[in-house]
Amino acid sequence: MAPTISTSAHESNSTDLISFVVHQGNGVKGLADMGLKDLPKQYIQPLEERISGCNVLPEVAIPVIDLSDSDDPKVAGAICDAAEKWGFFQVVNHGVPVEVLEKVKEATHRFFALPAEEKKKHSKEHSPTNNVRFGTSFTPHAEKALEWKDYLSLFYVSDHEANAFWPSACKDEAMEFMRGSETLAKRLLDALTKRLNVEELDEDKQLLLMGSRRINLNYYPICPNPELTVGVGRHSDVSTLTILLQDDIGGLYVKKLDQHDTWVHVPPISGSLVINVGDALQIMSNGRYKSVEHRVMANGSKNRISVPLFVNPRPSDVIGPLPELLKNGEKPIYKQLLYSDYVKHFFRKAHDGKETIEFAKI
Ligand code: OGA
Ligand code: NI
Repeated sequence: MAPTISTSAHESNSTDLISFVVHQGNGVKGLADMGLKDLPKQYIQPLEERISGCNVLPEVAIPVIDLSDSDDPKVAGAICDAAEKWGFFQVVNHGVPVEVLEKVKEATHRFFALPAEEKKKHSKEHSPTNNVRFGTSFTPHAEKALEWKDYLSLFYVSDHEANAFWPSACKDEAMEFMRGSETLAKRLLDALTKRLNVEELDEDKQLLLMGSRRINLNYYPICPNPELTVGVGRHSDVSTLTILLQDDIGGLYVKKLDQHDTWVHVPPISGSLVINVGDALQIMSNGRYKSVEHRVMANGSKNRISVPLFVNPRPSDVIGPLPELLKNGEKPIYKQLLYSDYVKHFFRKAHDGKETIEFAKI
């Protein structure tokens, strides 16, 4: 452990802190494990980015949709309405076995409990593949203030590749979550695209909407002065859809559409999954479905984990408003662009709310 990081680290030397957290693989968990008393200044967010200062509506919640009756057209309607009006909803009776969810949560704790030297083997500098990435914050080199989060990001290419490179502490459980969510993803996209005049999710459409997967294991350790920082800053996801598993701690906030800086909390519901529209679906639906800003508050007394599964187009896909929409004379507001260019643009900068999608506007 780096002796230069004092437990009262407001004034820690910046190079030492970045080296300890980012380069030596200790992450913010390493700081939390030291029993840090004060938040290091590198994590202090400007006032406008802090959740403590924003307007949260306590009585309002995103829709909760029961998926148990797969033939009920009202269910499909509720999914589409939620994707238009909220961009976010929770699903219960979704068909992903509860054991699969419990196991991937345990695996997340197991991975982050590994010593820094083990986790560091999967960092950008040390991982033998770009498809596995252990890291901290979002884009530390591009950020004015850091985010209080460590993560492991796993991009699925093939079973063979995953078997070779995904960390053994969580490999099987992450794969099971990914596989177990396949039918759910397909069902949601089926409902959503029907409203866009897509008659049938044929193989090509399926590949375009859900041809690649990324699963992240997020770890938000106990934070001194959580009100001064964020777990994740304001952003929208670049996915088609995100299927997010959160534990029972809470802290995810979603912006209310068409209201200035007004947010709602996403309360943990045991066994549920949180679904959100990503930028790729906003683009393909020509703005009908909304990828909405969200952020995570740091927690002063509990370690929180979450496991988002990003259901994406393939990097080599060209995405744009679907032809089924444009053929009726609708004017496209987004251009056709290579999905990998869009994703690269997202990862080049710090989290900045809904800015990324400007890149796709005509
Ligand atoms: C994300 C995200 C929310 C959470 O990883 O993109 O928004 O609750 N996570 O961790
Ligand atoms: Ni997100």
